Amino acid sequence: MCGIVGYIGDQQAESILLTGLKRLEYRGYDSAGLAIVGDDGLVVEKRKGKVDELRSAVNGQPLRGTLGVGHTRWATHGPPTDENAHPHTSVTGEFALVHNGIIENHGVIRQRLSEKGYTFESDTDTEVLVHLIDDIRAETDLSLEEAIRQALTQVVGTYGIAVVSSVNDKLIAARKGSPLILGIGDGEYFIGSDAAPLVEHTRQVVYLSDGEIVTVSRSGYEVKTVENVPLEKEVHELEWDLGEIEKSGYDHFMLKEIMEQPTSLSDSMRGRLLPEDPRVVLGGLHTVWDQLVDADRIIIAACGTSWHSALVGEYLIESFARIPVEVEYASEFRYRNPILRDGDVVVVISQSGETADTLAAVREARKKGVLCLGICNVVGSTIARETDAGVYLHAGPEIGVASTKAFTAQVTVLAMIALKLAENRTLSTGEMAHNLHALASIPDKVDEVLDMNDEIREMASVYRYASNFLYLGRGYNFPVALEGALKLKEISYIHAEGYPAAEMKHGPIALIDRFMPVVFIAMKDSTYDKVVSNIEEVVARDGSVIAITDEGNGELDKLCEYVLRIPKTEEFLSPLLTVVPLQLLSYHIAVMRGCHVDQPRNLAKSVTVE
Ligand code: F6R
Repeated sequence: MCGIVGYIGDQQAESILLTGLKRLEYRGYDSAGLAIVGDDGLVVEKRKGKVDELRSAVNGQPLRGTLGVGHTRWATHGPPTDENAHPHTSVTGEFALVHNGIIENHGVIRQRLSEKGYTFESDTDTEVLVHLIDDIRAETDLSLEEAIRQALTQVVGTYGIAVVSSVNDKLIAARKGSPLILGIGDGEYFIGSDAAPLVEHTRQVVYLSDGEIVTVSRSGYEVKTVENVPLEKEVHELEWDLGEIEKSGYDHFMLKEIMEQPTSLSDSMRGRLLPEDPRVVLGGLHTVWDQLVDADRIIIAACGTSWHSALVGEYLIESFARIPVEVEYASEFRYRNPILRDGDVVVVISQSGETADTLAAVREARKKGVLCLGICNVVGSTIARETDAGVYLHAGPEIGVASTKAFTAQVTVLAMIALKLAENRTLSTGEMAHNLHALASIPDKVDEVLDMNDEIREMASVYRYASNFLYLGRGYNFPVALEGALKLKEISYIHAEGYPAAEMKHGPIALIDRFMPVVFIAMKDSTYDKVVSNIEEVVARDGSVIAITDEGNGELDKLCEYVLRIPKTEEFLSPLLTVVPLQLLSYHIAVMRGCHVDQPRNLAKSVTVE
């Protein structure tokens, strides 16, 4: 969602904040702004549009000062306009505030403040919080920090805020439901809504938890609860480095991240996959392993692409461990008042570890007293910290808004969990060794699929004008069909639907005509013959078929317009290969249609509002 960056130290804040905002732009990109405290007091510059537009505005008139905050916005309340952009400034011009999240009771507070004579320049819930702090200051002799704390006890909803003021030379930040990190440099401090704006300055960070407020001066910082209880916080070391959050010569982060998959998959498996032993080591699950092995039922909750990997996980765990698995949309989970019993284990999957819906599922599971495990990419993220135990993806930072390498890393981690659960259960030592070797060979096979990039680009040029696509697959590749369709629609704005291939005849078949490209995942596995029948059904209705199948399979050539042949692997691992051409296809179509691939309209990385 929106991004926050803050700075206090000896350097000029402007360029640190603008660079930080650029690195955060993937979190929201409809407007951007800065507030800097310098010799001229507090100066605010904000603009509708991307960070570059703010940079151009500021370039003409540099803002001098060594204390400041910046914000990139993803609109929740009020359209993207200059007025609605953050920071928002107090009536007195004393302080400026940036905010991620949603103040749910902004309506009543706005009404109360309006009656007291406050006027509002924006439609945002954030300005309500600013005036609330103003009002507390006007009616009491509280310090700014205390007034902020008191205001935060009156608001309902979620926030990550950062405030700078011309009166106290401090950077104050607080969080509830929206992540914030304090970066500790040498005589300087940073605030970030994630690590991206911090990594080039420091690796020492403090993760703020919900209900905490940090006051940072030039000589140190102090963390307290919103109820004013001082806290000792652990300092952590960041894992990311700068190279990982830059494009490294690629045109887009999405392409870089697709191409990185052989490495990210090896990193996900490193030290965990021991084919020679043969066993899987998952240190993060060590303390809860007995409970997981004995689970009566596993419920996996996630959103979007992570939900698709959860569906693959359902097939994997049910087939290898014979434990019943249910997959839930995290956004629906807690609103169903789900029935959770002793013996149930909830597993959540989230690349960012910050998705509000998924976090709500974690809290629901924990409230109901069941073991809750997390599969996250971002180390130290809220979900990683609130779950009882878990497995990190170690896929490296994912900046492109469309998730790619996180999906394959999630499926890899789920495959490792499923295989480990199968130890002494459904697999002999020989079968285990065979499967682990097959998994270990996946990064090289992904590399081979990536070599087909030119062929896929050429295919994309043929289909770039289509207005609808259908993606069909069965078994392990049904979730891949969903993922292929999601990738296409989110970055190229082409309508696309994914279905289990056989389900097509129960409705979607009505859509098929010669203008409808249908992508089939037709690997030579247990479902192949049935999928070929489904292809025949589409061809009989003039549909134009693209098929993904195994290398050496020429049987589909006469039926399909394009056949992409990818390396063979075990059926349970095929999603790790079949998804890659679909990622590339959507990437190239989106580029050819002139879409902003890394920052698709209306979307944001890490959806921290419900
Ligand atoms: C799609 C995409 C989203 C995310 C979803 C969950 O490409 O990126 O659908 O998968 O918002 O995000 P995480 O995994 O961070 O919880």
